[in-house]
Amino acid sequence: MHTVFTSLGKGCAVIGAQWGDEGKGKVIDLLAEHFAVIARASGGANAGHTIVVKGVKRVFHLLPSGCLHEGKPVVLGAGMVIHLPTLLEEIAALKEAGIEVVSRMTISSSAHILFDYYKEIDAVLEARRSKVKGEGIGTTKRGIGPAYMEKAARSGIRMEHLADDLRAELTTRAESVQELYGVTIDVEGELSHLREAADVLKGCIGDPPTKIRQAASVLIEGAQGTLLDIDHGTYPYVTSSATTAAGALQGLGLPPSILTSCIGVAKAYCTRVGAGAFLTEAEGETAERLRKRGGEYGATTGRPRRCGWLHVPDLQRAALLNGFTHWNITKLDVLDEEKVIHVGVGIDGAGRPIYQQLPGWRTSTQGITVFDKLPKAAQEFIRFIEEKTSIPATFIGTGPGREEMIVRE
Ligand code: GDP
Ligand code: IMO
Ligand code: MG
Repeated sequence: MHTVFTSLGKGCAVIGAQWGDEGKGKVIDLLAEHFAVIARASGGANAGHTIVVKGVKRVFHLLPSGCLHEGKPVVLGAGMVIHLPTLLEEIAALKEAGIEVVSRMTISSSAHILFDYYKEIDAVLEARRSKVKGEGIGTTKRGIGPAYMEKAARSGIRMEHLADDLRAELTTRAESVQELYGVTIDVEGELSHLREAADVLKGCIGDPPTKIRQAASVLIEGAQGTLLDIDHGTYPYVTSSATTAAGALQGLGLPPSILTSCIGVAKAYCTRVGAGAFLTEAEGETAERLRKRGGEYGATTGRPRRCGWLHVPDLQRAALLNGFTHWNITKLDVLDEEKVIHVGVGIDGAGRPIYQQLPGWRTSTQGITVFDKLPKAAQEFIRFIEEKTSIPATFIGTGPGREEMIVRE
């Protein structure tokens, strides 16, 4: 076994360094067996974390990506907003594959319930933004903004009330929701979701801080990416939760001292779904090539991801905000056919990116698991990132499969 797994210590967070979809699910799945508990901290079903094991692809939206490890306890933290039908679907899909989750799952009683009608409000708010500003944020339309709006307004409904009779509450809300957004709450539909969920999940509601502190170690699964953070990201083109390591700790109710390591996950290039500035965005053929080779279509919405080059200042910023101790540079293999690899290293006076051009390697790296077996130019590319950020690239992804990862001591 690699000693690096033990050197991560007893509290490791995995955090996206870009605009999400960096490949967090894969490294969480890889690391899960070395930790006692796997915990998702925040966000909702806007996340889509993909895991490929033995050629079978699974996408998790709400369940932690450690779920495939049978018997492993998993936690959904207070910072999450939970769409119950989606959670039940994920649980049922795993059950069908012979994997039981409910008996080993703890959901924070303080996590918020994300009602179906929040999705409709999300769509209304996007349409209003488009009308006023000419474009929306490009949300996933999973109701995330409205869920956190209710939470911040202190009118959200939390998992602790899952089994309560919410008919009167929802009926009262229906009038104002209609008036404010022109959205009709399907009260009966919402109540039926609640009943079904209460049946399945009633034994899961608990207290993650206690659960985690009693365990020998914890792997914290970040969602989204640092540049989508509500405070530190590219506001207003961000999500509605805190996506940094500090946000993950807050979402789980854990003290900073629990973290012994923090893995920043970044693609060897860069993608973004939705609107907002993307300085190193590629155009035309180049973007199309990266999209095709990288399979860059949203795991949640199927939208084509905008593609471009790595931007070192963003990695430096993400490292500063999160205190990364290691990199997982993912999807190195996607660059295999590039003649020249562009890397954004700064911004000129006119606000354009300054690129450094590194030689491509034009040979397959897919499935390589040993750093020294990488072509020299690929090794140089990785060293370049390490030098610019002063953080070791301990994990390097060379394919979507669980085994397709270089792990360096
Ligand atoms: P997450 O949201 O950060 O978990 O990432 P997503 O699952 O949304 O997107 C990452 C995509 O890249 C998924 O389709 C993964 O299967 C895939 N992937 C992850 N690591 C690698 C890698 O090293 N190489 C390749 N080719 N694909 C990868
Ligand atoms: P994972 O965990 C990529 C983006 C949306 C949109 C913005 C706001 O898979 O990395 P929201 O629905 O959250 O209100 O949308 O945030 N976004 C993501 N992009 N990966 C994600 O999650 C994302 N979650 C939200 O595309 O630009
Ligand atoms: Mg994703």
